[in-house]
Amino acid sequence: MELFDVYPLYNVTPVKAEGAYVWDENNRKYLDLYGGHGVISVGHTHPKYVNDITSQLNNLGFYSNSIQNPLQKELANKLGKLSNCENYNLFLCNSGAEANENALKLASFKTGKSRIISFNNSFHGRTSAAVAATDNKNINAPINLQQEVTFLPLNNIKLVIHEIGKGDVAAVIIEGIQGVGGLDEGTTEFFQEVEKFCKKHGVFLILDEIQSGYGRSGKFFAFQHHIIKPDIITTAKGMGNGFPIGGVLILDKHEAKYGMLGTTFGGNHLACAAAISVLDIIKEEELIENVNKTSAYLLEQIKTISQVKKVKGKGLMLGVEFDFEVGELRKKLIFEKQIFTGGSMNKNLLRILPPLTMNTDQVDVFINALQEVL
Ligand SMILES: Cc1ncc(COP(=O)(O)O)c(C=O)c1O
Repeated sequence: MELFDVYPLYNVTPVKAEGAYVWDENNRKYLDLYGGHGVISVGHTHPKYVNDITSQLNNLGFYSNSIQNPLQKELANKLGKLSNCENYNLFLCNSGAEANENALKLASFKTGKSRIISFNNSFHGRTSAAVAATDNKNINAPINLQQEVTFLPLNNIKLVIHEIGKGDVAAVIIEGIQGVGGLDEGTTEFFQEVEKFCKKHGVFLILDEIQSGYGRSGKFFAFQHHIIKPDIITTAKGMGNGFPIGGVLILDKHEAKYGMLGTTFGGNHLACAAAISVLDIIKEEELIENVNKTSAYLLEQIKTISQVKKVKGKGLMLGVEFDFEVGELRKKLIFEKQIFTGGSMNKNLLRILPPLTMNTDQVDVFINALQEVL
């Protein structure tokens, strides 16, 4: 059997990793400024993380959601405290798309409505409602077209108010900072106005923090830069540092009902052990403080590179924009300088999503390499 060939691949084969570094099969060392699509939060093979998952596996790897699982409660408790979202309840699933799918479904159950408002260049995943709310026709199949989704430009509150006013909207879904789209984001005023009109009309505000969450923006969730309180927050990626897990945080005024949502694997013992370990490490190692420190240094150093047009994003979720396409630059960074970076729908943008442990020495390595390849 061959693999179903859906991914264009770089010719690199990582075989081991540690912290912000990855080694290939020829023992060549790479600086990982992409964290496997923004997934690696506490660093590769962090010893506590490896130990916590290993011990859990030695005890109990999996049992179903029809028994008591205290690890889920521990995870919810720690996540609530560290993210300052204690008045939310947690539903656990397995991926980002699944988190958004459940969030949209919940909004629809609760409002009895089905239209969704999403934004230009958004990415919310590849399942049914999540992909329909994603602004990319190429990844929507005919079967996905049954969803009612209206795409609006970011930061145009008049259009949002107009659409919400029609009375048939279940949810507004928005990324804290757009990831795949290219690091654009709503202004504080926009987020606050959207929140206000959602509340007024009983529309669910869903904050997709799958990429921008878990400390990456310099706050636990990126929306916390704007002082709003969404009805639902979705998370995945950095949540398990590579172990598949997703979460839907639901404001506690929205009540649950048995059977409303469900999954076989979501919130299993191993996934919870991984996610608890991530939260413990973020707290113990003060990684959000580190994000802010490293980000400030990076933003200062990058000013020395004259070819950089603009830097978008926050914390360690950054997009470095040039006035040319960065495909060749990324290849040179990988194959000549052994540095992984990312791309986005904006072809002129180099995407930086390193582990939250990135330090200023690693920033220097990146800046020097960038200067040399440019
Ligand atoms: C903002 C955002 N939402 C949702 C998703 C989908 O997550 P997953 O690939 O885990 O389904 C992604 C993935 O890149 C994302 O960046």
